[in-house]
Amino acid sequence: MTEAVFQRCIHPHCGATLGVDETTFACPRCGGLLDVAYDWPRLHPPRMLRDFESKWADRHNPLNFSGVWRFRELLPFAPPEQVLTIGEGQTILQKADSVASYVGVQPGKLFLQYEGLNPSGSFKDNGMTAAFTHARMVGARRAACASTGNTSASLAVFCSATGLMRAIIFIGSGKISYGKLAQALDHGALTVQIAGDFDDAMQRVQQVSRRLGIYLVNSINPFRLEGQKTVMYRVLEALRWEAPDWVVVPGGNLGNVSAFGKAFMELTELGLLQRLPRLAVINAAGANTFFKLFGQANLRWEGGKPDKRSIEDYYCKLDAEKIRASTIASAIEINRPVNLPKALRALDGCGGVVHEVSDQEILDAKAKVGAGGLGCEPASAASVAGARKLRQEGIIAAEDRVVCILTGHALKDPTATVAYHTTDQKTFEEVLGTRGVRRATYANRAVQVPNDLDEIIKAIELYS
Ligand code: F0G
Repeated sequence: MTEAVFQRCIHPHCGATLGVDETTFACPRCGGLLDVAYDWPRLHPPRMLRDFESKWADRHNPLNFSGVWRFRELLPFAPPEQVLTIGEGQTILQKADSVASYVGVQPGKLFLQYEGLNPSGSFKDNGMTAAFTHARMVGARRAACASTGNTSASLAVFCSATGLMRAIIFIGSGKISYGKLAQALDHGALTVQIAGDFDDAMQRVQQVSRRLGIYLVNSINPFRLEGQKTVMYRVLEALRWEAPDWVVVPGGNLGNVSAFGKAFMELTELGLLQRLPRLAVINAAGANTFFKLFGQANLRWEGGKPDKRSIEDYYCKLDAEKIRASTIASAIEINRPVNLPKALRALDGCGGVVHEVSDQEILDAKAKVGAGGLGCEPASAASVAGARKLRQEGIIAAEDRVVCILTGHALKDPTATVAYHTTDQKTFEEVLGTRGVRRATYANRAVQVPNDLDEIIKAIELYS
């Protein structure tokens, strides 16, 4: 391979390589996942992370404005003139002391990385700009994904904002939240609702895009994960280039954790970061394949040879027992995460752990996050609920610096929020009771008053 940028099978014993223009996104030799790989010495990587700060002074250049592409020397697969950006990645790391107290770490030690600020309202835009750029490089006219809602929203936004591609979206029936479905429809995506769940839709979209030659933007696409690496660069930047002790992230298809792990491995390889954070992946208990396999069955990366048999056996068992993913955190309602081997590699490299949290814990943590200043959707709150659990179990220490990734905006799923806070017990039971949520400990109920000035004033004096 003479190119400085190429694709490579993640399994070192296979090590097959492909050109940067290939779009099959599977190793032709062993069927494994692919990485975007770089021959760094030929690509002039940065000498110091602090050098990126100079980009701030040049925000009129769209590449420097983008929170993804201002780090382009660390994802150098695209010629700058091919980059497609819609201003993604303008996100913040916020210190959240009330959430710190909920999690059980010292004040000043808990940070929320708020990816809900992206143009489509979730972290997906970080990856979509990279996948879209690659799609343009290879001349794609149509792009597809299966989605629990955020990937599809992001794809729809990128297609409508740039006018360069047609978005084709596969969703399962019933589970997608209204905020996300609204985005797909509003932005003009061809929306294909399959009678099945996300895992079914994911299988179908791979078959269909192969058959019809449609560009696939799910996180099985390694170019997407290149964009998602930048979430970690922004976290480091906000912490003045010093790694936190922990990065805690919800786990669905396991793209984020895989991208974060790759980001840290590369920074180490380039001598740009001396100390790595530990990674913690949090599953919803109703969609907990990764927790079961890593946390309980001890599945590990094993130098690139994870025990495939135990993964297949686990999926057979799910099928035999007709177990389907089910959680209020619909974004991570996934039982067959496509990036599982990459996630194992990430945890191996970063001393990672996996845990699970119940829907009750997710919604309680979500209310605490909301009351603490930043709104997030249920899946995102799994990170905070998980951090609290890891703290209770003594895995995270009270003095550790912890970054929880808030992957999506609160307005993505208002149904879950209103059901939690509602005064109407029937709504609570209908929407949440079926998911095993029994209490709304942190509910902020609306106060019901007659349309009478004295009564209104009395109520305000009483409750404020
Ligand atoms: N949080 C949110 C809000 C998500 O939308 C997703 C994934 C995740 C967490 C999990 O991230 O897959 O990288 O582990 N949503 C995908 C979708 C599956 O289709 O929008 P992951």
